[in-house]
Amino acid sequence: MGTIVEGEGTDQVNGYGGEKEPGGEHGGPLTQEQVLGIKETWAVLAQDPIERGADLFMKIFEDDPDLKKLFYFADEGRELSREDQRMRSHGERVMEAVGAAVDNLGDLSPIVPVLTELGALHYKYGVQPNYFDTVGAALIYTLETNLGDKMTPDVRQGWVQVYGIVGATMKKGMQQAMDQQNMGKTCP
Ligand code: HEM
Repeated sequence: MGTIVEGEGTDQVNGYGGEKEPGGEHGGPLTQEQVLGIKETWAVLAQDPIERGADLFMKIFEDDPDLKKLFYFADEGRELSREDQRMRSHGERVMEAVGAAVDNLGDLSPIVPVLTELGALHYKYGVQPNYFDTVGAALIYTLETNLGDKMTPDVRQGWVQVYGIVGATMKKGMQQAMDQQNMGKTCP
């Protein structure tokens, strides 16, 4: 995986690595304007990653309440609260992972192994690949609701591509973990 920025190399990657994007759009490499817009909009959300991470997960659970069952509070028979510390901590970690992508827009290769490993870990947590699309759609929603006018259609399109790569890389790690498990079943 290389650059997704226009004019910074030939190894350009589309939004979801050819898969369906949260918004259903496909794009080419990011333009310099999109890079600036993504960095500018992220700087606003990154001022309070815990609250914005909580916004994100409240939206995810609203969109797909089934996802709640993957979290510990379901095992403990509790309803999710926005103030739940572990939920907030997970939201912050998701924000950190997206922030790492924003910091490396010019060359995502340093974070690819981290995201791949993270995808494999999420297989163990019982996450399904399509759940990452739910996260992507909620991320775009969180950006739009917090940023209003700053989230122009062009910047939104850039974000769809950036999260598309994060999601596709995690899905790839998840697929590798599934394949390894299946090989273990067939080759004792
Ligand atoms: C709906 C989708 C997702 C679900 C259901 C989910 C669920 C989980 C669960 C159950 C854990 C175990 C620890 C805990 O309860 O906090 C976890 C850990 C974690 N998740 Fe997620 N997750 C999702 C999406 C994501 C995404 C998109 C990212 C990053 C972009 C992410 C980043 C992390 C990180 C960094 C950890 C800690 C990993 C470790 O060091 O053990 N998660 N997740």
